[in-house]
Amino acid sequence: MEQKLAGKVAVITGGGRGLGRGYALRLANLGANIAIIDRNLKGFEVYDFEKKLMTAPTVVDECKAIGVKAMGLEVDLTDRPATEKAIADIAKKMGRIDIAVCNAGGGTVKFADEMKSGEAGPGRKGEKGSGDVTTTGTPSDCPQEMLTRVLDINLMTCMYTCMAVAPFMKKQKSGKIVTVASTGGLVARGSYHPYGTAKAAIIYYTRALAQELGPFNINVNCIAPGIIRTGRLGDRSQLADQIALRREGTIEDCAKVVEFLVTDMSDYVTGKTITIDGGACDQR
Ligand SMILES: NC(=O)c1ccc[n+]([C@@H]2O[C@H](COP(=O)([O-])OP(=O)(O)OC[C@H]3O[C@@H](n4cnc5c(N)ncnc54)[C@H](O)[C@@H]3O)[C@@H](O)[C@H]2O)c1
Repeated sequence: MEQKLAGKVAVITGGGRGLGRGYALRLANLGANIAIIDRNLKGFEVYDFEKKLMTAPTVVDECKAIGVKAMGLEVDLTDRPATEKAIADIAKKMGRIDIAVCNAGGGTVKFADEMKSGEAGPGRKGEKGSGDVTTTGTPSDCPQEMLTRVLDINLMTCMYTCMAVAPFMKKQKSGKIVTVASTGGLVARGSYHPYGTAKAAIIYYTRALAQELGPFNINVNCIAPGIIRTGRLGDRSQLADQIALRREGTIEDCAKVVEFLVTDMSDYVTGKTITIDGGACDQR
């Protein structure tokens, strides 16, 4: 792969597994030095799908094996001061911050690594091993725990990361920020409303941030993945007939778009959201 990010430093949040791991490996293969922030750098262990993908003890080790510098920090990004400290530590150790992929997030169902052994919640119909933190409620009546949790892990982690990297990028007069929404933030679906609200807010925030940071030569764009096969999401191949391209998405499908958004291919694109859903949104 062409080393078009050689010498750059990329922060990937939620890079301990899943899509974030895919972004970290892709950018490492393009020559970027990688800093992963995740609340659990070994979070891949709870999903067989993720475990099987691993080629080293952690994603940080996988990046090092590619031949770039890499570091990992275990931080809960819902904690704003802790996020600021993590970013400052990365800038100190790596020398600069050129790219931030704000990928940490998740839906209304508890992460498998948060569940106590034997714990089982209602989950989604027909699925094992997942459980709602509480019930999702309705848009007019959402339990506080659910509302706080879903907004925190999606919207606030994204905003805190952007706010922490911005001063470094402004000083350098360059930077590429990619935020992560979801088609859930574009299509209104009843039971998924707190997640959709958080992701829709990320789309707005991306546009507002792009306006502020544009004069500093910083691009801010967003991706909105649809159904992408990760350990957390599980196998959704049965939904293929609801997708124009007739398949669920892959981690690589998203990583390719992230590559576009963090390289010079997208230098004149900012404030935009790219949907990566195989055409699913238009079918519903
Ligand atoms: N998989 C999909 O189909 C899909 C679709 C649309 C959007 N997305 C978004 O893509 C992102 C990644 O999804 P995924 O399927 O790879 O999920 P995942 O659970 O495998 O990865 C999310 C990562 O974020 C980390 N994380 C969560 N909360 C955190 C916090 N407070 N602080 C630090 N780290 C935290 C987790 O530990 C995990 O490693 C999420 O933002 C998700 O909403 C995924």
